[in-house]
Amino acid sequence: MLGWGFFDGAASSVDIVITVADPSTYDDALREIHLAQASSALPGPDYYTVLSWVHQIMRPATYVEIGIRHGDSLRAALPETKCVGIDPEPTVEGPLPPDTRVFAMTSDIFFQSYDLAEVLGVKNFSLAFVDGLHLFEQALLDFIHLERFAARQSIIMIHDSLPLDRTTSDRVRTTHFYSGDVWKLALCLKARRKDLRLTTIRTGPTGLCLISRLDPDSDVLVRSFDELVAEYVALDFRDYQSRSQQMPDTVENSFAAVQSCTAGLLHDT
Ligand SMILES: C[S@@+](CC[C@H](N)C(=O)[O-])C[C@H]1O[C@@H](n2cnc3c(N)ncnc32)[C@H](O)[C@@H]1O
Repeated sequence: MLGWGFFDGAASSVDIVITVADPSTYDDALREIHLAQASSALPGPDYYTVLSWVHQIMRPATYVEIGIRHGDSLRAALPETKCVGIDPEPTVEGPLPPDTRVFAMTSDIFFQSYDLAEVLGVKNFSLAFVDGLHLFEQALLDFIHLERFAARQSIIMIHDSLPLDRTTSDRVRTTHFYSGDVWKLALCLKARRKDLRLTTIRTGPTGLCLISRLDPDSDVLVRSFDELVAEYVALDFRDYQSRSQQMPDTVENSFAAVQSCTAGLLHDT
């Protein structure tokens, strides 16, 4: 059990159970096969490159990243951007952007303990990236927590919205290459939050979904949290395959496409 999701005055009743096979049993050769399959399915620039394009295009004043690991994705931020990184076990390798604070704790504990607006020094974040615990219900919680600090021109990015196969998108991790069932968040938001705009960039290894028109006053997801968890946790990769039409639209991983997609997401009509 990991913990609880905390909202204003209401706690979710869902316990998050993480099941991970002993990493020493993961198959090294299978990782190479998965990487080759992913680069064949989603060729071209990977998500680190795409993240750096999004930063260049948006030039966000503030950036929040949930799940920083070695700091590789956080390093896509510009020197002038104020950054907050959240990770219970950060293993940062190399320098981070100069105005960065790292909080070594889970995202639930962070949002329970801190007011993100106070940490940032402004009411809203400009850009955020959800890449922490790779289970649907945690990604949903992370989205809910972040949205409370969003403005009309903010964007939340969620990683791993284009899963490779059944094994690597299973809720129980058994492989090096792993995206978990976070793809369900894109499906869920598209179905349940018609007010949002969502576009997925077809970048390797497993896609990057950008979400705009965020509404800090929306309580749709909080009110239906337990119902959403029950419904979406039950899905698996076969549902992803059969519901591809219900997933967000996708664009290619070129700078021009990302620029145009970002402009569309932020266009105020
Ligand atoms: C896939 S790695 C992040 C990779 C990084 N964003 C990148 O692209 O280089 C996932 C990270 O999420 C962290 N994590 C796991 N559970 C978390 C939680 N509840 N809250 C925040 N981070 C979490 C892990 O410690 C790990 O470092």
